[in-house]
Amino acid sequence: MAEPALHPLNWNQHRSAWSLADGVTYLNHGSFGPAPDVVIAARQRWFAELERQPMDFLARRLEPLLDEAAAVLAKFVGCGDDDLVFVPNATTGINIVARSVELAAGDEVLLTDHEYGAVARIWGNVCSKVGARTTLAKLPLPLLNPADVVDAVFARVNERTKVIVVSHIASYTAVVLPIADICRRANERGILTCIDGPHGLVQAPLNLRELGCDYYAASCHKWLCGPIGSGFLYVRGRHKSKMRPAVMSWGQSFSGRPSSWKDEFVWVGTDDPSSYLAVADAVRFIESVGVQEFRRRTHMLAREARNRCAAIARSEPFTPDDPAWYGSMVTIPLPHVARSSAWPGEPHPLQRALWEQHRIETPVCEWQDRLCLRVSCHLYNTPADIDRLCAALEALCPRFAT
Ligand SMILES: Cc1ncc(COP(=O)(O)O)c(C=O)c1O
Repeated sequence: MAEPALHPLNWNQHRSAWSLADGVTYLNHGSFGPAPDVVIAARQRWFAELERQPMDFLARRLEPLLDEAAAVLAKFVGCGDDDLVFVPNATTGINIVARSVELAAGDEVLLTDHEYGAVARIWGNVCSKVGARTTLAKLPLPLLNPADVVDAVFARVNERTKVIVVSHIASYTAVVLPIADICRRANERGILTCIDGPHGLVQAPLNLRELGCDYYAASCHKWLCGPIGSGFLYVRGRHKSKMRPAVMSWGQSFSGRPSSWKDEFVWVGTDDPSSYLAVADAVRFIESVGVQEFRRRTHMLAREARNRCAAIARSEPFTPDDPAWYGSMVTIPLPHVARSSAWPGEPHPLQRALWEQHRIETPVCEWQDRLCLRVSCHLYNTPADIDRLCAALEALCPRFAT
């Protein structure tokens, strides 16, 4: 398929860094991001070393190796080497935070109505155990002004609010939320902030020291292209000693170094640390392309997807067409596509048809009674992928229209 004249870039420049499955149009990096070959190879090298001499690797070498990898990641996200620990994914990070914050009966944990379902469930669960509760800030739609978002959050704050949980970039709607302003105002009122950040990494600027949040949980296996099973949890200094692991083990160093808050998280039973160690390679890969270059390319594609799919779906996107509101991932409402009675037990028929008939991976999700298509663009995507998606939507949508 010819590349449209609209995009004079060499769109195939980075694609060869990946060994993607043939014949698949992969527009779902936001759910599960394939890692480039260089990262997969690094992980395999670490794994092979581990299996060659597990005692030496796990008992002697692991702690300094993890420190080295964490230092590379810490520099990338703008915090100190001692401020973050590796965890398998953002879900684990959020679980650790939810178990570590001391909630009491009557306390409130405030979330927005754009939060990821599992994250809302985690907080609901810890609240229910102590007689606390979660509350919901409904954000205005369409989102036109970041200040309105902040106001909508703080309109739900009261003296019982102990924690604000907010996504850096929301999962279903793909919108970038004004977390810096939310953290600033929360700090003024002594409210803790827990940022759910798996989509923030690389897609959006991130400097944790400047952000001023209390906790930031992220998955590296999304936009950073770390191996599946790599994530991190950032914890602000004063909370470190209060952090409780999701899985309890020895809570001490095996190599005899001075004790640290990280000890609870470094050893959580015998496991394969190769995905954490290869995160440093993922950072180096993204930096070799350039973060700005990543954002420029992937936003161009997301913008193309947004404008063309919205025209096909005859819908209004959730935000203005502005990189401040969305990065490499975009959500298009599908108001004229029938919802499925099978939802949420199985993928929507449109998602199934995109995959089964067109080999296109793009999630169709339901958010607040709206059906939405979410399109993720990474460095391996090209305008031809968007062309294929649009052609498939045009072919399929009449069948799903009410
Ligand atoms: C906003 C948000 N938070 C948390 C998660 C959970 O991420 P993981 O499955 O890597 O733990 C996701 C997954 O897509 C997400 O979109």
